[in-house]
Amino acid sequence: MWKNLPLFPERASALAWQVDGLYFLLVAVSAFFTLLIFVLIFVFAVKYRRSVHPHPVQIEGSLPLELAWTLIPLGICMIFFAWGSLIYFQEARPPQGAMEVYVVAKQWMWKFEHETGQREINQLHVPLGRDVKMIMSSQDAIHSFYVPAFRIKADVLPGRYTSTWFHPTKVGTYHLFCAEYCGTDHSGMIGQVIVMEPYAYQAWLSGGGATGSLAENGQQLFQQLGCSTCHRFDTQGRGPNLTNIFGKPVLLDDGRTVVADENYIRESILNPGAKIVSGFKPIMPTFQGQVSEENLMALVAYIKSLSQPASGPASNQAAASVSSNGQ
Ligand code: CUA
Repeated sequence: MWKNLPLFPERASALAWQVDGLYFLLVAVSAFFTLLIFVLIFVFAVKYRRSVHPHPVQIEGSLPLELAWTLIPLGICMIFFAWGSLIYFQEARPPQGAMEVYVVAKQWMWKFEHETGQREINQLHVPLGRDVKMIMSSQDAIHSFYVPAFRIKADVLPGRYTSTWFHPTKVGTYHLFCAEYCGTDHSGMIGQVIVMEPYAYQAWLSGGGATGSLAENGQQLFQQLGCSTCHRFDTQGRGPNLTNIFGKPVLLDDGRTVVADENYIRESILNPGAKIVSGFKPIMPTFQGQVSEENLMALVAYIKSLSQPASGPASNQAAASVSSNGQ
């Protein structure tokens, strides 16, 4: 029914209906009360006009009435609040096992990198029916990743990772916009998300262009930058052993415990002194300005791959590197 009405973008993600449902409820409730108020204004104006009621009676407070007009709106607002929070938490928490795509935003383009190493600019290919998690960072200003058909929008910030996710439910090509003013060509910072049937996506993946998976590239960098001289996998090096740390709590020198997530790894590369792991000395040099956003993401992907159960090709590769480093 709405298909030819340009008022609504297509609904192409699992959460799209929920967002629209909440929106429709808000509109319906607002329309209902607006109408009610206007009708009552006219009804009362006619009913209590001066020629019929020359001396109106003052009402000096009424507890039931006041309770009613406080509790009923409160109840209605709570429905919006509860439903809104539910959608928010669903959107804020990427499900386990989601396929990950790394995103670097810059003035004025979107760069995507798949776990398998394929890179794209202003186009993102994803398979139908899988959860897709975006791990995003900006090289310059604040941008915002906005795909109306998926009903998701998330800011992309310089200096840290943010994430969002979606579950595409319909094959097609959907608009990607930057939704945060980021300079002269902000309006041109657009792209496409292409949802494909899984077999077509596999065919697209094998179409080439990849120079090793993201984790493999990260592993190479790990050697090139000399990380492997201190972060050893065989004996205890001068830096912590990075096997199986991802997603786990880490005890710090100052007694705090933090979870080793993407942002923690990023910070530890760029600003190693910020969080020193308990039992280690603050000797690691900073890599600020020496590692590009893309290379940072490769390093993060590599360190993550050291913590996954050996199932995919990336983790097998990582596991193999662990043993070969040990010789
Ligand atoms: Cu990037 Cu606006």
